[in-house]
Amino acid sequence: MTIYLNGQFMPLEEARIPVLDRGFIFGDGVYEVIPVYSRRAFRLPEHLQRLQNSLDGIRLQNPYSEGEWTKVINQLIARNTGDDQYLYLHITRGVARRDHAFPKPPVTPTVFMMSNPLTTPSPELLQSGVGAVTAQDNRWLRCDIKAIALLPNVLLRQMAVDAGCAETILIRDDAFMTEGAASNIFAVKNGILLTPPKDNLMLPGVTYDVVLELAAANSIPHEVRKVTKNEVFNADELLLTSSTKEVLAITRLDGKAVGDGKPGPMFAKLYKLYQDFKRDVMRKT
Ligand code: PDD
Repeated sequence: MTIYLNGQFMPLEEARIPVLDRGFIFGDGVYEVIPVYSRRAFRLPEHLQRLQNSLDGIRLQNPYSEGEWTKVINQLIARNTGDDQYLYLHITRGVARRDHAFPKPPVTPTVFMMSNPLTTPSPELLQSGVGAVTAQDNRWLRCDIKAIALLPNVLLRQMAVDAGCAETILIRDDAFMTEGAASNIFAVKNGILLTPPKDNLMLPGVTYDVVLELAAANSIPHEVRKVTKNEVFNADELLLTSSTKEVLAITRLDGKAVGDGKPGPMFAKLYKLYQDFKRDVMRKT
């Protein structure tokens, strides 16, 4: 496995960062996860724009231009095996003596990228759907920043795993749903797709955008608005979306069946549209 670290490609085993890296000390950095299909990065401009927004959110200058990112990303894809990969990009504020305030003058940011094989959900999982639990969303108020400081998300996701489930659906203020620990969430009621609007309480998912675009283009009734806790518990269907899971049905919530306990018609429709879209845009020209 070849990784990229601060301008150089090298085997993963040889990669080293100093212990005073602010990513290690403070979790002071941001990241991106980008799926690669047929050796082409999916929705790259959108992922790079979200990266820019995250960097702006933590007041860190983007170390590379869009052209430079595109070049190193394509080199990383070429140096790794497998047509389908997922890329992990990670930028921290760099190495400096420990002090909460930003280093002055600024130091060079640390840039790390790796590629892993992309394993999308298996046919069995697509057929059965997955279980989820709900939990109070106890994260900060800048969940729109894709920050590497993921301890709340780690603890929330582990709650799902401890319950034999795949994801934790987060409820803010005991009132409305924000997203999953590492995914966006859609509910379906009476044939209408419901999902929260992008704001500071959720990560603006690239997959979320694709699903909403597909819904609009295919006349699927949908509403982007606050989704209440009750609507989540009484949904006919629940779906999760992310770059690595794509579109997946949630068929059990807190131990009870969602709808009839099987992936429903909205899932079937959106899953097919997503796969068709992926094939169309990623087809080699
Ligand atoms: N996570 N919300 C959160 C909190 C996430 O961590 C993710 C993705 C999403 C979905 O975003 P997208 O569709 O752009 O992948 C929503 C990635 C996959 C991760 O941390 O591994």
